[in-house]
Amino acid sequence: VGHIDDVQELRKTKPTTIPERFVRDQTERQTLATTLSPSSSPTDDIHVPIINLSKLMKANNNNTTTTAADEFHTEIVKLTTACQEWGFFQVVNHGIDLSLLESIEMVAKDFFMLPLEEKQKYPMAPGTVQGYGQAFVFSENQKLDWCNMFALGVEPHYIRNLKLWPSKPADFSETLESYSREVRKLCQNLLRYIAVSLGLKEDVFEEMFGVAVQAVRMNYYPPCSRPDLVMGLSPHSDGSALTILQQGKGSSVGLQILKDNTWVPVQPIPNALVINIGDTIEVLTNGKYKSVEHRAVTHKEKDRLSIATFYAPSYEIEIGPLTELVDDENNNPCKYRRYNHGEYSKHYVTSKLQGKKTLDFAK
Ligand code: SIN
Ligand code: FE2
Repeated sequence: VGHIDDVQELRKTKPTTIPERFVRDQTERQTLATTLSPSSSPTDDIHVPIINLSKLMKANNNNTTTTAADEFHTEIVKLTTACQEWGFFQVVNHGIDLSLLESIEMVAKDFFMLPLEEKQKYPMAPGTVQGYGQAFVFSENQKLDWCNMFALGVEPHYIRNLKLWPSKPADFSETLESYSREVRKLCQNLLRYIAVSLGLKEDVFEEMFGVAVQAVRMNYYPPCSRPDLVMGLSPHSDGSALTILQQGKGSSVGLQILKDNTWVPVQPIPNALVINIGDTIEVLTNGKYKSVEHRAVTHKEKDRLSIATFYAPSYEIEIGPLTELVDDENNNPCKYRRYNHGEYSKHYVTSKLQGKKTLDFAK
């Protein structure tokens, strides 16, 4: 991606028309026009479920009271509905220090605000999702998203490309380390609750995943004078097992998920995190839990920052529907084949974002 395709640089030139490369075709523009309008509050109207994690964490102690056990059960039921019907939920009382959420946001923003020359010291190589630029672009005539990305592999250490870890802002690496450690614990806890919600042994995913792969992708969406013409981020499902998304404070409402053929906005809740089920969990649960298509749209005046953490099995792991969740005799036949997660991951990062198309790999 050259100078001209960097949306932050483009925005600075205050273009009177949007370059062709970003203008979506009529069909896609139609879908941009038929979005539910964001309501004034995250709890209004139709919204993704909100899970209170403290109710799940409390019941993990040994001195569990009856009330705590009841609350745990109620929250697990909510979680089941969220994973089956939405594929998305927001978590409150997740236990991650708010100061850490603020710091990661700060370093991400500081990085994106650096001069282009500085950011280009960490270029994203084609066919990878590490470094600065636009991922998932493979041809000259593919439309570009109105978004800049900065992505890094974090765990296990061997996936790190340290040449891409920036020296500016100075506290970037240290902040990313602390943040990732906390988010990893959250992912491990969430996978335990998800296992419980499926009636499985709570450590089933942890045992299966090996040393889980964790990567981060920071997305920066400058304002766009024509949000009706461009896509912030093309519709896609995530190739991870779970994704943890932090929406920047003061950012515009940009994330939308496809629910019953309608694009539903995900209103940021202060200090909450957005969680979504990725393709791996959809396959493991034989489609019971859904990896839901989502996208990001832009805003006329406001910019937007989001920080996504992708949590996935180790590359050598074989993935396929869990036998406990398949029942050939009772209308629940196996919907996906078995495959190697590393191969899926490779397939995902070398495909353009296009709805749920990447999951065809598993069919
Ligand atoms: C993503 O789907 O990776 C990020 C979407 C967003 O910016 O909210
Ligand atoms: Fe995503």
